[in-house]
Amino acid sequence: MTLNCSPTPLRRLEGKVAIITGGASGIGASAVRIFHENGAKIIIADIQDEVGQKIADELGEDVSYLHCDVSKEEDVSNVVDAAVYRHGKLDIMYSNAGVIDRSFSGILDVTKSDLDKVLSVNVMGAFWGAKHAARVMIPQKNGCILFTSSSTTNIAGLSSHPYASSKCAVLGLVRNLCVELGQHGIRVNCVAPFVVATAIAGPRNPMQVEALETMVTSWANLKGCVLKADDIAKAALYLVSDEAKYVSGLNLVVDGGYSVVNPSMLKTLKFMD
Ligand SMILES: NC(=O)c1ccc[n+]([C@@H]2O[C@H](COP(=O)([O-])OP(=O)(O)OC[C@H]3O[C@@H](n4cnc5c(N)ncnc54)[C@H](O)[C@@H]3O)[C@@H](O)[C@H]2O)c1
Repeated sequence: MTLNCSPTPLRRLEGKVAIITGGASGIGASAVRIFHENGAKIIIADIQDEVGQKIADELGEDVSYLHCDVSKEEDVSNVVDAAVYRHGKLDIMYSNAGVIDRSFSGILDVTKSDLDKVLSVNVMGAFWGAKHAARVMIPQKNGCILFTSSSTTNIAGLSSHPYASSKCAVLGLVRNLCVELGQHGIRVNCVAPFVVATAIAGPRNPMQVEALETMVTSWANLKGCVLKADDIAKAALYLVSDEAKYVSGLNLVVDGGYSVVNPSMLKTLKFMD
């Protein structure tokens, strides 16, 4: 007789209901797949209807797609109501949708349209996600709200002023919400990615993805691996799972140590060798 000792894969979100905003692409799409593999029922909330619906169709009945522009409070409210109507509750709100303005221009060139674009999605979208998730999680007396912040919360000069400001605002919201919603048994965290070669980072085809990944690897502190969207989604999985049941108010930086290293002196020492 042979014993099968291979462990059953752990389904870390079995029975949980999750909304993932920005779930049609990049980090959000990775999170949809990984949360689904781990047993969650998911609503993808995005503005890319065709691609979002395609992911839902591929994954089957536990995953659905709804059009939701996170900058519009009514859209976010509707998605939360749909989750409760379809599945009876909401355990996880992963507020991940985000946009960036292209320019690295200085403060003198910042325009109202740059600010409107970035703040309406990254900041107001985060507020609406938190507000409407809290609306149903407070009576449940549990739940988990997660945001995607950015390495720009931890180190300066990586992006435009509007984008960096928007992600620092998300971190401020996370910390304040952690205080209020902790009283109701709700955890609030964010995951802070370093540069991942998704649409927001610029590449439009596999060659550009490879070129960006090569460039990021050359900047990175941690050598021997390439940061992928799945790595951020796995950090998100930890934060929304019961394994993180006492983790709240955290900005989980996934940057291979980039933000804790100042390479200036090292470069000089290597030069002197
Ligand atoms: N890729 C990176 O290097 C990086 C680094 C740090 C933080 N982030 C953050 O990660 C998050 C996910 O980005 P990504 O890297 O997967 O990029 P992405 O462009 O692949 O995905 C962003 C998703 O958000 C959706 N979206 C945009 N505006 C929306 C709106 N108004 N309403 C609903 N959905 C909307 C897009 O349709 C898209 O599906 C963003 O918040 C981004 O700021 C990304």
